[in-house]
Amino acid sequence: MAVISPQEVAKHDKKDDVWVIIHGKVYDLTQFLPEHPGGQKIIMKYAGKDATKAFEPIHPPDIIERFLSPEVCKGSIDEGALATQPVEESEEDKRIRLAREKMPRLEEMYNSFDFETVAKSILKADAWAYYSSGADDEIAMRENHNAFHRIWLRPRVMINVKDVNSSTTMLGSRVSMPFYVTATALGKLGHPEGEVVLTRAAYKKKVIQMIPTLASCSFDEIVDAAQQPEQVQWLQLYVNSDRAVTEKFVRHAEARGMKGLFITADAPQLGRREKDMRQKYSQEEPDEIAKSDTEFNRDEGAARAISAFIDPALCWNDIAWFKSITKMPILIKGIQTPEDAVLAAKHGCQGVVLSNHGGRQLDFAPSSIEILAETMEALKKENLDKNFEVYIDGGIRRGSDIFKAIALGAKGVGIGRPFLYAMSAYGEDGVVKLMQLLQDEFEMVMRLMGVTSIEEIKPEMVDIRNIKDHFVASPIDYLAHKSYEAIQPRGKLAKL
Ligand code: LAC
Repeated sequence: MAVISPQEVAKHDKKDDVWVIIHGKVYDLTQFLPEHPGGQKIIMKYAGKDATKAFEPIHPPDIIERFLSPEVCKGSIDEGALATQPVEESEEDKRIRLAREKMPRLEEMYNSFDFETVAKSILKADAWAYYSSGADDEIAMRENHNAFHRIWLRPRVMINVKDVNSSTTMLGSRVSMPFYVTATALGKLGHPEGEVVLTRAAYKKKVIQMIPTLASCSFDEIVDAAQQPEQVQWLQLYVNSDRAVTEKFVRHAEARGMKGLFITADAPQLGRREKDMRQKYSQEEPDEIAKSDTEFNRDEGAARAISAFIDPALCWNDIAWFKSITKMPILIKGIQTPEDAVLAAKHGCQGVVLSNHGGRQLDFAPSSIEILAETMEALKKENLDKNFEVYIDGGIRRGSDIFKAIALGAKGVGIGRPFLYAMSAYGEDGVVKLMQLLQDEFEMVMRLMGVTSIEEIKPEMVDIRNIKDHFVASPIDYLAHKSYEAIQPRGKLAKL
């Protein structure tokens, strides 16, 4: 293979002749440019340069072999010469370097919000936009946490709570606390190592990790990072329009020891996350490219670019097929009404995750905690509540949130963004610390509520009159009031 100098690559920096360096190889992307699902602008930004750092977080490792013909690889970059090239610090890199210097010490972190605040200061703008955005006006996203505020506790006292035990089981696996790391995409946007950081932290704290289909690391890398056989992992599945691809993946996941298959049902189309979309137009771009990207309608942010394969035809009839190709327990993730939870049970699923996808899909879809009690009632009424596990995710930030969910019938709760933020800012130690904080909070709540084990947590320990009568304070439109990021003049970075 030819060895190419950085000077040679640098000559190919025009739209009709564009080379980039990715992982030490030089690619001619001229033909591919208009096809790129993420748009042309981002490729042109790295025309004639090394694009590895930008490429890595949002592309699965084998994507080049799958989408590009071998001829577009021109050769290897002369690594020695590349290393001697001066690296310019961008404005953004400088901002992040300074913010990292001022980061509080890990011991100073008291709760999940602390991690979010620090993460916001040290993440790249595109990473923050992707992780933190919700659908439309972001009202469902805010409600996910706010809904917990409508539930009050009914503590019992004069009970011996010297020893409390937060351990429980999920789909038959013993875990140390009733939460799991839920699936979130693009881990390398936050941390150079990506999802394997969460794998290692989950092992240390004996909690389950749900592996995302759209991880930055490959599925096998994430499984290899686990301490098998004792570490438990589940798979979150986006169903591909090409069912042969899905079948192969599901069979492989089962062979690699996954203990649960969570089929995502709330994303036949990805929601509009405007903060994420806006990233695309927030930087300098030649007019020509801005125009051609619009023609191709590839202007919708990281989320849409990576999710085009998801099959909107997925429906209840497919469950029988899934059951025919796997023995893993099948759960439907993204259930938003009691009716659909009942249908999942009737179709022979082993459980559901009540979820509105972190408020990233349908704005005004209810928060999971809001519909948990009525879901448990509906399942009971149909006698479908035995051997059927109900999980919830969305907005869980405190030990008391976890307690409320367990009291109302959840077997466990999924936590997503907070672990991403902890990972982005502090790596594995940050994730471990946040897990410990949540466990400490949860055990304190157990003690102050007068219970010593998960089995003792009962519905009568929470007051849900504000949910039963469906008292909903009119939502505050935070997006408009506070965090709305005004559209910027061309060429200016959105202020985050
Ligand atoms: C998201 C998808 C990809 O919410 O899960 O961005």
